[in-house]
Amino acid sequence: THIFDDRINSAGTNLNISSENQAFFAGVEQHATKQWLGGPIVDGKLLETADKLEVRAPQNRSHITGHIFHADESAIERAIASAHAAFPAWRSTSAESRAHMLEKAAEIMEANSHELIALCTMEAGKSMQDGIDEVREAVDFLRYYANQARELFAYEGPLPGPTGERNELFVQGKGVFACISPWNFPLAIFTGQVVAALVTGNTVIAKPAEQTCLTAFRAVQMLHEAGIPGNVLQLLPGIGSKVGAALSGDERITGVCFTGSTATARNINISLAQREGAIATLIAETGGQNAMIVDSTALPEQVVNDVVSSSFTSAGQRCSALRVLYVQDDIADRVIELLVGAMQELTVGDPIAYKTDVGPVIDETARNNLLAHIETISAEGKLIATADISKVNPDGCFVAPTAVEISNINQLHKEHFGPILHVIRFKADKLEQVLDDINNTGFGLTLGIHSRNESLALYIADRVNVGNVYINRNQIGAVVGVQPFGGQGLSGTGPKAGGPHYLTRFVTEKTRTNNI
Ligand code: SER
Repeated sequence: THIFDDRINSAGTNLNISSENQAFFAGVEQHATKQWLGGPIVDGKLLETADKLEVRAPQNRSHITGHIFHADESAIERAIASAHAAFPAWRSTSAESRAHMLEKAAEIMEANSHELIALCTMEAGKSMQDGIDEVREAVDFLRYYANQARELFAYEGPLPGPTGERNELFVQGKGVFACISPWNFPLAIFTGQVVAALVTGNTVIAKPAEQTCLTAFRAVQMLHEAGIPGNVLQLLPGIGSKVGAALSGDERITGVCFTGSTATARNINISLAQREGAIATLIAETGGQNAMIVDSTALPEQVVNDVVSSSFTSAGQRCSALRVLYVQDDIADRVIELLVGAMQELTVGDPIAYKTDVGPVIDETARNNLLAHIETISAEGKLIATADISKVNPDGCFVAPTAVEISNINQLHKEHFGPILHVIRFKADKLEQVLDDINNTGFGLTLGIHSRNESLALYIADRVNVGNVYINRNQIGAVVGVQPFGGQGLSGTGPKAGGPHYLTRFVTEKTRTNNI
């Protein structure tokens, strides 16, 4: 039996039960007005550099959430040198004691969940449900990778050989990993990357997205509190072109674990390839151009429910989010009619409010790019619906959830990372063309299918080159150990986060032949 069959996922909080949600909101609100301060953590200590930046809430740019010091060149050099020196001792620490530290960190994060959720909201504009899911996923990663590491390191595979000779295969950490994480899951993906590298015996330098360094700062403090030594896990907040580039260009970095855009993954890959020294590992989770295919046997009400959650939850800022809905023309009018109604029901606004369905996008740059795309694509296609944003805070970075009918997926030249859904009608005899068009984007992350025709659904699932297929449900919210997550092609290298093979990419294998 495999340990991953015995997983226990974190329960989170049920916001729809008033006895749970009153204490929850009181707890989160108590933290939401706090002023956080963070910066580089080198050898366990906060470094105050000359580069101190204000952090403002995406939903209200006049609210200051806190301040963050960015890493300077000396912090970067000290962190790399120290993590490099710490590696041999950390590699020799038992997998059991490393796993135990992760479990301790899971307890600490659960105990501090109200603060972490408040921080996700005040730094990244996360809704309350998204905040709950962030903590839950981070905790799941901690417990799941702890168990996976126990299993991986316990395996000392005896191999066949001549009498008297003992042949064994086992694993060890590789060196120093740079973990470069995104702002859209400031706690969950940050924690998942870092602890996967740590539990497998690597030392880590974490470089969070510049928009969400305070959340990363608190997460690192909690990991240190759980027993991870200060020289084993270092934090370097800053911008990618400075900190990320310095890390991937340095020979002492053995591997990079990256989640973000395909273009940045490519740049990291080039930088790793051009430097001297060992050939580095790159684990990249990148973008998508995710589609859903709805045939005429689907139930329109269920389709629309799943479309709305797949496209607009987290303001569409999930790499798994639905971007292109293909609807068979026999039921397209009905689906679109229901979609218009459902979008009118969406509440867009302050992410800390219970009734809010859709919060802000991450910053002004994101908003301006999304608004420009809506203008262009609405002129090329036909606007179906927009949600009401007349009551949102004018100082916030809001984009109205929008649906536009277009005729071909090629009209989208890239991933548009926000609450914009593109709808394409197709005729049953053109299904093969639809599947080719999706594959030809080169992306391969998530695919939704709505159909009562099982053989057709399974055929489509097999034919489209993606990492995660969801049949008759929404296509977001992969759960650790339940839906291992990650794509192929332009969407990433694999292995899947929260899956049984993820840790294997963080270790090196050793064969020992013993003839004593
Ligand atoms: N793991 C996330 C999800 O499934 C990625 O965006 O939604």
